[in-house]
Amino acid sequence: MPQTHLIAANWKMNGVKASLPIARTIAEQSRGLQARVALFPPATLLPLMADVLQGTDIVLGGQDCHHADSGAYTGDISAPMLKDAGASMVILGHSERRHGHLEPCALVARKSLAALRAGLEPIICIGETLDQRQAGLTIPVLSRQLADSVTSDLKGQAFHVSYEPVWAIGTGLVASDAQILEAFALIREHLDKHFGTNAPQVLYGGSVKASNAAHLLALEGVGGALVGGASLTVEDFMPIIRAAD
Ligand code: G3P
Repeated sequence: MPQTHLIAANWKMNGVKASLPIARTIAEQSRGLQARVALFPPATLLPLMADVLQGTDIVLGGQDCHHADSGAYTGDISAPMLKDAGASMVILGHSERRHGHLEPCALVARKSLAALRAGLEPIICIGETLDQRQAGLTIPVLSRQLADSVTSDLKGQAFHVSYEPVWAIGTGLVASDAQILEAFALIREHLDKHFGTNAPQVLYGGSVKASNAAHLLALEGVGGALVGGASLTVEDFMPIIRAAD
């Protein structure tokens, strides 16, 4: 029985109340399709989107969370707050936070524990930069990110890993089959070693589009996609969800 693909939309810093009908239409058009669909809007939209999606199978998630459950952290959002707002998943360790906010692997690991404490299913992102790949450092970089961000504290818990080569994010450059399969083999080895054979799904992210989704989702071990730009409109995102059928 082929595994159900997880097709996740990372809206990043895009979306206002006027964007809510997009979520509703995605829910309506996804009804009856195979994929598990998750939307990760800006946190400001979570409660409203939870209302709009009530009664649908669409999963909601946050794009990050703090490692603490509450406290004096101006501007931050905790995992319990995401849960309270209607989220059941959270993206952690996205390269735009690892590099944009200098988030170390150890912080990503602490955040994943906060997510689990709040009953959120984390999607932990890893990926190498173009400089690292060109320097032949992809494997050691991914190995370090796995070892320090996807730790044995997650054993027995529901979580996912997303391989997102940084140089493929927002660039239109998609990793080659060989590059994806090499990274997925490393991730699978880490997951099988630490989490056993029922280890979580591994997603691919990085310029997933309607034109390449079916091919990417058919690659061995690809359990789904984490989509950025092509998740912002129904016209762009629905073909990716249908490609998982
Ligand atoms: O989290 C997924 C995202 O980083 C991929 O972005 O625009 O290349 O699909 P994009």
